[in-house]
Amino acid sequence: MEVIIKQDYNHVCEETVRLIYQAWKKKNNLVLGLAAGKTPLGVYKRLAELQKKGEIDFSQVVTFSLDEYLGLKENHPQSFASYMEKNFLQHINIKKENIFRLNGTPENIDDHCREYEERIKSFGGIDIQILGIGKNGHIGFNEPSSSLSSRTRVKTLTQDTIAANSRLFKNKKEVPRFCLTTGIGTIMESKMIALLASGEGKSEAIYKTVEGPITASVPASILQLHPEAKIIIDQEAASLLNEKEYYQWVYRNKERVNEFLEKKK
Ligand code: GLP
Repeated sequence: MEVIIKQDYNHVCEETVRLIYQAWKKKNNLVLGLAAGKTPLGVYKRLAELQKKGEIDFSQVVTFSLDEYLGLKENHPQSFASYMEKNFLQHINIKKENIFRLNGTPENIDDHCREYEERIKSFGGIDIQILGIGKNGHIGFNEPSSSLSSRTRVKTLTQDTIAANSRLFKNKKEVPRFCLTTGIGTIMESKMIALLASGEGKSEAIYKTVEGPITASVPASILQLHPEAKIIIDQEAASLLNEKEYYQWVYRNKERVNEFLEKKK
């Protein structure tokens, strides 16, 4: 797990865009896993800007969304499908047939979840999964106590998550209690994971994720077992980390390690 501490939210986004850009340069048909929420918005905006400048091209890129509210139609203004369309997909030259998402109103939930997993596999898996984090350490909508090897399925949201997400709903009673989410096992199969966090409100979840024990009570803590997990956070989100200086030291020395390894070849 690599902990990358940046000055502020803008730098968190820039670092993430850099990772995606570098990966895209090596593989133009990159398979991206997309998270909803406030945190990745700056990444999506910058990626769309990069494409406008002609520096990146999404025509071969494939995307899979991480989760969706159960019971909301795709065109519901608060569905994650609408979020993704409005904040990212409609601004880039991605092909419609390369956009995959969980359907909040499937005919058969189990079949739909199984087919989603199969679809991800048919593209060779997710190259980079972008993640935010809930204050309780959830990733996707895998709330605490989710099996650390879970697959795509229905979950019941915690009261706190419902409250946090209700800001976008005019009628609070409309906030869904259930969702579909790719599982923790599904997420862990991604080749690289970039978990982003910004602000003091996320500092406890980040502390538990990075320096706490691996536990289903903090779903994001499983990322400690992922060989290519990047935790990209700002100073505030990093404020409770005990080994903050070490992580910064490692990051500053990264170039040197690469130079050293190159010379040894
Ligand atoms: C939701 C989403 C998560 C997201 C989390 C944090 O519950 N299902 O994927 O990471 O909220 O959202 P935010 O970035 O708005 O804090």
